[in-house]
Amino acid sequence: MKVIATYNLKGGVGKTAAAVNLAYIAARSGLRTLLWDLDAQGAASFYLRVRPGASGTATALLEDKRGLARAIRATDCVNLDLIPADFSFRNLDIELRDYKKSTVRLRRMLRELEDDYDLVFVDSAPSMSTVSENILNMADLLLVPLIPTHLSLRAFDQLVTFRAEQADSHALILPFFSMVDRRKRLHRELIIEFAQSHPELLRSYIPYAAEIERMGEHRAPVNAYADNSAGGRAFLALWAALAERLEFAAVPPARRA
Ligand SMILES: Nc1ncnc2c1ncn2[C@@H]1O[C@H](COP(=O)(O)OP(=O)(O)OP(=O)(O)O)[C@@H](O)[C@H]1O
Ligand SMILES: [Mg+2]
Repeated sequence: MKVIATYNLKGGVGKTAAAVNLAYIAARSGLRTLLWDLDAQGAASFYLRVRPGASGTATALLEDKRGLARAIRATDCVNLDLIPADFSFRNLDIELRDYKKSTVRLRRMLRELEDDYDLVFVDSAPSMSTVSENILNMADLLLVPLIPTHLSLRAFDQLVTFRAEQADSHALILPFFSMVDRRKRLHRELIIEFAQSHPELLRSYIPYAAEIERMGEHRAPVNAYADNSAGGRAFLALWAALAERLEFAAVPPARRA
């Protein structure tokens, strides 16, 4: 089981879009996939039309030994399950602090599901908190969407520092560009500059695209309704690049030709 968290200290950069669309593509390619929505705002759960039940509160999740397994819901997408966010997740930070080894608590819980999934995506809120520390400590890979602006790239350096401070984290940081507008000279310049100093950058980027923006209207992953659009193809290419790094052979059929 590999754990990929979409993470950034900045908000509104495409974390949820990446988590939902990549999880959908991975699941469609045959991998048993779980998406854990750890943002109390529940955007990923909204897109996938799933609500948490009584077993989905922060307290139920943490107190019950089988809490995580009980919170899992099926989605309409084949091979894709979801742990939906509950609004009580806004208190997760406070609740986590009552536990010993609070920063590795979620990782321990996730281990219980080790045999059930090939891949777990975690969608997170833009913050530095105990929950974020838990995310850094459970992820094999931090997938970081970056908007090509100076402030966004500065926040990336802060994230690298924050990650380096987590002694229990083995997460590899993989940035990619998101919401790219190739018509803007600044976007083109910043991407080239960043790529030169960051060889780990995934070379597939996600363009600013109307069909991605419309996920809220469709309440579905882009690739479920616009597979062959610019945005849909960009997520397929990003998944192919990611699958290669994760050493998953499974690449969606559309990219095999
Ligand atoms: N590539 C894109 N092109 C156009 N719109 C996009 C793109 N990616 C995301 N969006 C839109 O931008 C908004 C923010 O995206 P998203 O929710 O994925 O960001 P986020 O980083 O998860 O935000 P938050 O920090 O609030 O959780 C959403 O309305 C989404 O539909
Ligand atoms: Mg989000």
